[in-house]
Amino acid sequence: MNADSLSARGAHAAVSPLRIDHDAFRAAMADRYHAVDNPAGALPLNVAENRLVWPELKAKVEEITRSHPIPEWVPKYASHRGAAPFRAAAASFLSEHLVGVPVDGDTLGVSAGATSVIEMTAFILAEPGDVAVIPAPCYPVYRKDLGNMACVERHDLVTHHQITEIAGGPRLGVADLERAAHEVKASGRRFRMLVLTAPDNPTGAIYPGELLAEMADWCIEREVHMVVNELYGLSLIDTSHPAIRGDYDDPVPFTSFGRIMADRKSDWLHLWYAVSKDFGLSGFRIGLLHSHNRALLQAYENLNLTHTASNHTQWVMQHMLSDTDFVTRYVALNQARLTESYAVVVDGLRRAGIPYVPSRGSLFAWIDLSEFLATETEEAELDLWRELFRGSGVLLTPGVGFGHTKRGLFRMVYPCVDMDELRVAMDRMAEWALSRRKGARSA
Ligand SMILES: Cc1ncc(COP(=O)(O)O)c(C=O)c1O
Repeated sequence: MNADSLSARGAHAAVSPLRIDHDAFRAAMADRYHAVDNPAGALPLNVAENRLVWPELKAKVEEITRSHPIPEWVPKYASHRGAAPFRAAAASFLSEHLVGVPVDGDTLGVSAGATSVIEMTAFILAEPGDVAVIPAPCYPVYRKDLGNMACVERHDLVTHHQITEIAGGPRLGVADLERAAHEVKASGRRFRMLVLTAPDNPTGAIYPGELLAEMADWCIEREVHMVVNELYGLSLIDTSHPAIRGDYDDPVPFTSFGRIMADRKSDWLHLWYAVSKDFGLSGFRIGLLHSHNRALLQAYENLNLTHTASNHTQWVMQHMLSDTDFVTRYVALNQARLTESYAVVVDGLRRAGIPYVPSRGSLFAWIDLSEFLATETEEAELDLWRELFRGSGVLLTPGVGFGHTKRGLFRMVYPCVDMDELRVAMDRMAEWALSRRKGARSA
């Protein structure tokens, strides 16, 4: 490959894959498991997609496009911050189903998926070289989403080392923010943004409302922007399910950051949402910014043209999101299926003796395979990841890139396959772990 024809940043991009597991994913898809046609095939559990509810959504999308005439605004340019009819529907959806208090369509910005919203928000709020503090482990692509265009640097805030330390919930507190502020200042940079994901990718943690409020007040006081990414906000696990309830000491109700924002109406507090995960519609490319900061919204309007979502998709989603009965039934169904799938994962992990962080939501299990590491290094982690794939056909995402200190942790996505496939994957992982231990004992 000759990258001389490119800019320096283009040449860098040409050799910087978006994710470490892309090539392996392609290989796994080329040899995809099928119960009859390819029973020894691969099971990729590494891309954050929810396939459990597509039949119901497909029927709804088809019904919308069949039974409603396309309005005049759809083929034309609309507001660059999102078409007004879609924003109004999205605002009432957010207030009804996620936030729980009124949200105004005028406080929203719409872009092509959460990725675009993250990039736009960082571009508008931070200077190049500013720092976004994110608790570790975190969604690895934040580094690129914040860095590529906005040139904002990610600071991984490590609050624990062993996963047992977060079994009861996240360990984050205001003292950790103070520590991060100190570390960032000492490095000669500015702590400009705090980014939380709730429920979290990859740990499935949620933050109690009082903790969010405390952190919000800390951020307002220090003039740090606090953003909570709630794109998994409706993907909640029913922790009272008999197969898993022993993992949880207390029920922690999900509190949307939108409630805290509504109380404070501060220029420093913001929320991200998208239909990619809760609705399994990652290909629709619809993401939302919610903020009470008028200057941010105005800048968003003026800059968002390169990031706009298609009006046709906004129109389809306007109909879907404003059908309150459908959304209510859909969310309950999705959570029931997610919980059933998650129980299959937990059963497999327990059989295999693999430690995991009890999840309260999102599409992930964060698991500890460190007992199988040859050494505590990134190379050994990648070797183990490949070995697991070769030995079981199950493809996970290695912890490298999540910004955490402990090696040997892996992320598993479970709703990207159906229940039968998930059972096969968990059986294979259990078999692999048990024979690996046996091999180690007899060696
Ligand atoms: C925390 C987080 N943010 C953003 C994204 C990207 O979402 P989208 O597909 O809407 O751009 C993902 C996808 O996995 C994610 O987990």
